[in-house]
Amino acid sequence: MFLTKENMDFYESEGFLVLENFVSLEECESLRQRAMAIVENFDPSESFSIFTTNEQTRHSDLYFLESGDKIRCFFEEEAFNENGELRQSKSFSINKIGHAMHDLDQVFDNFSRTSQLEKIAQDLGFIDPRIIQSMFIFKQPFIGGEVVCHQDSAFLYTEPLSVKGFWFALEDSTKENGCLWAIPGGHKIGLKSRFCRSKDGLGTEFKVFDESPWEISKLIPLEVKAGTMIVLNGLLPHLSYANRSERTRHAYTMHLTEGEADYPESNWLQRSTEMPLRGF
Ligand code: FE2
Repeated sequence: MFLTKENMDFYESEGFLVLENFVSLEECESLRQRAMAIVENFDPSESFSIFTTNEQTRHSDLYFLESGDKIRCFFEEEAFNENGELRQSKSFSINKIGHAMHDLDQVFDNFSRTSQLEKIAQDLGFIDPRIIQSMFIFKQPFIGGEVVCHQDSAFLYTEPLSVKGFWFALEDSTKENGCLWAIPGGHKIGLKSRFCRSKDGLGTEFKVFDESPWEISKLIPLEVKAGTMIVLNGLLPHLSYANRSERTRHAYTMHLTEGEADYPESNWLQRSTEMPLRGF
């Protein structure tokens, strides 16, 4: 076991777990440098795809839908001014990189596939864990977009439910620069919606099972230092507010699903049969 009994009890009751000093500051820096190099090499004319959870349906396009087995850059919703020009330099305009960095980039592959993380996955109950997606999240200064309250299982649905998130703060994450907020114990409610491909396969839609509003008043901020790992139950409601500060809030996140669970074709994120999901 990597996780202690105390860790496991906390995770079971709260739906998340904070592991401080999990990643060295040198490693945080090397991931940040690698992500910035990917953005440096990104040609914006490839796409003007914007990531927003506010109007997810409208903004979903093929660039996004086909990113499950690629490394693609997505702009912040507020990256462009009314004339369609970037407000800030390209390096301060990208919302995130996704969604197969762990399979296609050596630096992120090495970081994502360690015996420590494999042990944590086993402690959490995975029999045959698969890394289904990875994202580098920039939360840019001034324009870093809000991510509205959601459950990760809505985006990475399996039967039975199995998704868990590993989130790594690569910089200090505070209320000012848009830290995570979560509802402790909120994973005990059921799944409220699913984010699916629309029937024509060209767009996306939410299937809503429970229209009741999120209990926003129960959210608590998870302010953490660089190097902290946060484990998130797939049913835990969480969000992050916009970053209006002058600092970035870099984070890397990967999600695991159980290989033995069914992964429906209606899920938004798919990958080609030539690149099957792998574990550790
Ligand atoms: Fe999430």
